[in-house]
This record gives sequence, C-alpha cells and structure tokens, in this order.
Amino acid sequence: MEALEAIFTRRSVRDFKTDPIPEDDLHDLLRAGMQAPSARNGQPWHFIVIDDPDLLHAIPDFHRAAKMLMEAPLAILVCSDRKLESKRASWLQDCSAATQNILLAAHAKGLGAVWLGIFPDSERVFGMQALLEMPKDIRPVSLVAVGYPASTPEPVDRFKVERVHRNQW
Ligand SMILES: Cc1cc2nc3c(=O)[nH]c(=O)nc-3n(C[C@H](O)[C@H](O)[C@H](O)COP(=O)(O)O)c2cc1C
Repeated sequence: MEALEAIFTRRSVRDFKTDPIPEDDLHDLLRAGMQAPSARNGQPWHFIVIDDPDLLHAIPDFHRAAKMLMEAPLAILVCSDRKLESKRASWLQDCSAATQNILLAAHAKGLGAVWLGIFPDSERVFGMQALLEMPKDIRPVSLVAVGYPASTPEPVDRFKVERVHRNQW
C-alpha cells in the first residue's frame, strides 16, 4: 500500500478475528516502530510483544477501554527506558511516533490495530508494570492491539481548512 493511501484510510480496528499474526508480519511491525524519528535519534524505546491470552485477558481489568484484547491475538506495548531518555524529555513524543508507525504498518499489511493509551493514566501504567513484571526504569507509554480485522470502519476525511494557518495565526 502506498504511504498516503495508508495514512488516509487507516482507522482504529477494535473487532478482531482470533487468527494468529505471522512472525514475519510481527517483525515488520516492530521494525516499523523502531524506524520512527526520535529526538536526537535517541530511540529510547522497548517493545513488549504480548501474545499470551492469559496476559491479554487480564489487561481489561485495569484498562476499561481495552476490552478488544479479549479477542485480539496480539498486542505490542511501546515503552520508554529511563536510562535511554534524553534530558529534553522527548520520550513521550518518540514513543508516540513509534506507535503511529506500528499502526500504519499494520494497516498497510492488511492487519487491524488500535492505539490504547497507557501513560499518563497511573492505574494503567502500574497495571502494565505489575502484569509484565517490568523493571522500574521502564515506562509503558502505549499499547497497540493487533489482529486480522473482523470489521473495519470506513475511512474518514478530517481535513479542516480553518485549522490551517499560513505565516501568521
Ligand atoms: C493517545 C491515544 C490513546 C488512545 N486510547 C484508546 C483506548 O484506550 N481505547 C480505544 O479503544 N481507543 C483509543 N485510542 C484510539 C482513538 O479513540 C482513535 O484513534 C480516534 O477515535 C480516531 O479514530 P481512528 O483511529 O479510527 O481514526 C487512542 C488514541 C490515542 C492517540
């Protein structure tokens, strides 16, 4: 799929078939995440692949907007490593860019995905850290549920000319 077509047609998919994701496709998603821009090329990220159904099914207990994980075969937790973060505190932007790259790569490959916010909701942050036994230096930022879509929302055009300014406000 061409890049602009992927950007213009991507939607959040929350309705998944239970079929597993091939390892090659998973590798492409992780590679897309790590290909994202980051401040000073700091790449402060780690990615935790979650495909154990017991773990996926435990997440909605502390993340009420993540019920689609009862069906999704896989999720990728995008994390920032405090030891790799720059003093400019750009880790949230860096991890967000990686998250968006994963969403677009999933869509381009015919997979469905949805961004599930983790940071800064403390219940979600502590919930993920406890569930996955994460070291204290690792901050969970966002979780991407991935699977083959059982249904896909129609593309929407969100362009608003009144939100565009040129040279001055
Ligand atoms: C920071 C962030 C957090 C989000 N958290 C959730 C979430 O917890 N659960 C969910 O179902 N969707 C979540 N979304 C997805 C948005 O609801 C979705 O992107 C938005 O409604 C636009 O729809 P679209 O992705 O289909 O274009 C999140 C998106 C972002 C960027």
